[in-house]
Amino acid sequence: MSPDLFSTLPRDETLGEDARLLGGFALPVVNDVLTAIAAVTAAAPFRQMVTPGGYRMSVAMSNCGAAGWVTDRKGYRYAPVDPDSGKPWPAMPTVLADLAQRAAAAAGYADFAPDACLINRYVAGARMALHQDKDERDQTHPIVSVSLGLTATFLFGGLARADKPQRVALAHGDVVVWGGATRRVFHGIAPLKAGEHPLVGAQRLNLTFRKAL
Ligand code: SIN
Ligand code: FE2
Repeated sequence: MSPDLFSTLPRDETLGEDARLLGGFALPVVNDVLTAIAAVTAAAPFRQMVTPGGYRMSVAMSNCGAAGWVTDRKGYRYAPVDPDSGKPWPAMPTVLADLAQRAAAAAGYADFAPDACLINRYVAGARMALHQDKDERDQTHPIVSVSLGLTATFLFGGLARADKPQRVALAHGDVVVWGGATRRVFHGIAPLKAGEHPLVGAQRLNLTFRKAL
């Protein structure tokens, strides 16, 4: 099989126990997803938040849903209200909640009902250091991650920070679902390479859906 032919086939790969890459899973609804992101970020604009250690993140963020992930000098947490506006985060658009639920089900997690959708925006050079997602109350629920725009290198490690991560290319429309035994793995995003995506421009957008409350 030629490399070109191979790259046009849907990729559905196991990344580890209880973790799957669903290649292109979001493509059928991608225009509606981008419209929904534009509406959310018009009401709750992207901002670069500060870590408890005092560093400004290279990734700009917004949220929709009942709970939004925030960080400031006081720590990481989920908050019902956008600290910039003092208003509740925009409601999670149905197209987003439905996409997350269908992807989770396709990966073996039935009845996923996310209440938090973090929207990450990466421009060239932006990165996310290896971390674990552990601010959610009940970690039996999976994480669903949707990639849009420029391709990024996802670092998918192990339960120890020192475990060498797999490097997984995440392209426009790809969805990763991880939970169960991999729910607490260290993961991150390598510095984004500059480029121009025909639909999304010079950036990568990422949605991460969680049951936080
Ligand atoms: C995250 O770990 O919260 C984001 C991962 C990504 O941007 O793909
Ligand atoms: Fe994360």
